[in-house]
Amino acid sequence: MKAIQFHEAGGPEVLRYDEVPVPEIGPGEVLVRVYAAGVNPPDWYLREGLKVMPAEMRPALEFPLTPGTDMSGVVQAVAADVAEFAVGDEVFGMLRFPGFNGRTYAEHVAAPASDLARKPAGIDHVQAAGAPMAVLTAWQYLVDLGHDVPSPFTGQVHQPVPIAPGMTVLVNGAAGGVGHFAVQLAKWKGARVVAVASGRHEQFLRNLGADEFIDYTRTRAADVVSDVDIVIDTVGGPDSSRLLTVLKRGGTMLPVFFAQYDPEETARLAISVSNIQVRSNGPQLAEIGRLFDEGKLQVGVDSTYPLSEAGNAHTRAAQGHIQGKIVLTVVS
Ligand SMILES: NC(=O)c1ccc[n+]([C@@H]2O[C@H](COP(=O)([O-])OP(=O)(O)OC[C@H]3O[C@@H](n4cnc5c(N)ncnc54)[C@H](OP(=O)(O)O)[C@@H]3O)[C@@H](O)[C@H]2O)c1
Repeated sequence: MKAIQFHEAGGPEVLRYDEVPVPEIGPGEVLVRVYAAGVNPPDWYLREGLKVMPAEMRPALEFPLTPGTDMSGVVQAVAADVAEFAVGDEVFGMLRFPGFNGRTYAEHVAAPASDLARKPAGIDHVQAAGAPMAVLTAWQYLVDLGHDVPSPFTGQVHQPVPIAPGMTVLVNGAAGGVGHFAVQLAKWKGARVVAVASGRHEQFLRNLGADEFIDYTRTRAADVVSDVDIVIDTVGGPDSSRLLTVLKRGGTMLPVFFAQYDPEETARLAISVSNIQVRSNGPQLAEIGRLFDEGKLQVGVDSTYPLSEAGNAHTRAAQGHIQGKIVLTVVS
């Protein structure tokens, strides 16, 4: 079969379209013919040699590596101990995360059955492949963590704040993978949603239910918004604390990417900060799948590239300003 591999860390040009053996399945696994594979930040973090991680947390890498955690496809074979899936089932999932051996940029993948759910009938393979990591991240932050593993960043077990009508949720980085699902989930729970993104995403985000839109290239959210119950910040970075003042006393800051806050400042403002590392979870995807089927959730597709052009997909990702998800097409 064909798969994307890289034999050294580097830029998008290291991604090669190689001939490799079809993987064998072990206990608890199914073999999936991949129809589409989603592109997520950990895919390029891995391609770059995990430079994004602090040196002491960085695992040693053995090349060649195949990137990818997310995919949608059709079950081809099932291990004897797997009862939930049968040959011919359409499935989607985020495989073996946290971890860097999902290997979904390929024509076939061996997938743990526990990481899979049936693909919602109402969305196609491209949309389904775009969903898993981004929607599970938004779900595990905002709705249900689904496990009791402490965050590796804080050592604490995250507890989502129940979102109810009358609450306001601000989503920073609202047009991206995680952000556009966070907007929709907060809206589904009845919140008033403030979306912060660059101007060209306004219509996209209003269509997904944003009540208020702030173009961060023109207006600082902190100058025009206050009394927010929850901020989910998918951008993070060195000046993340600028969003603390939009929160009301007792509010919650959810940094999705590395962010730093002065504990004295958060204590003075009575703000809780909590984060997670997203984890694979097939049953949660099954629950979320019902929302896709009912039309309560949609997947925004920024762009698609054939599997053989994974390098171009990574080049697109590096340009930023992503609207929804980038997806690799494997069977069209
Ligand atoms: N904790 C976890 O387990 C977890 C899970 C998944 C992802 N992540 C991390 O979360 C981050 C986001 O992931 P993603 O997949 O959603 O990325 P993404 O699809 O690339 O989205 C990022 C979005 O942020 C917007 N943006 C950039 N600068 C901004 C700014 N200053 N203010 C507001 N919006 C800005 C971009 O578009 P515009 O600039 O055009 O608005 C883009 O739409 C990544 O760093 C990823 O590593 C963490």
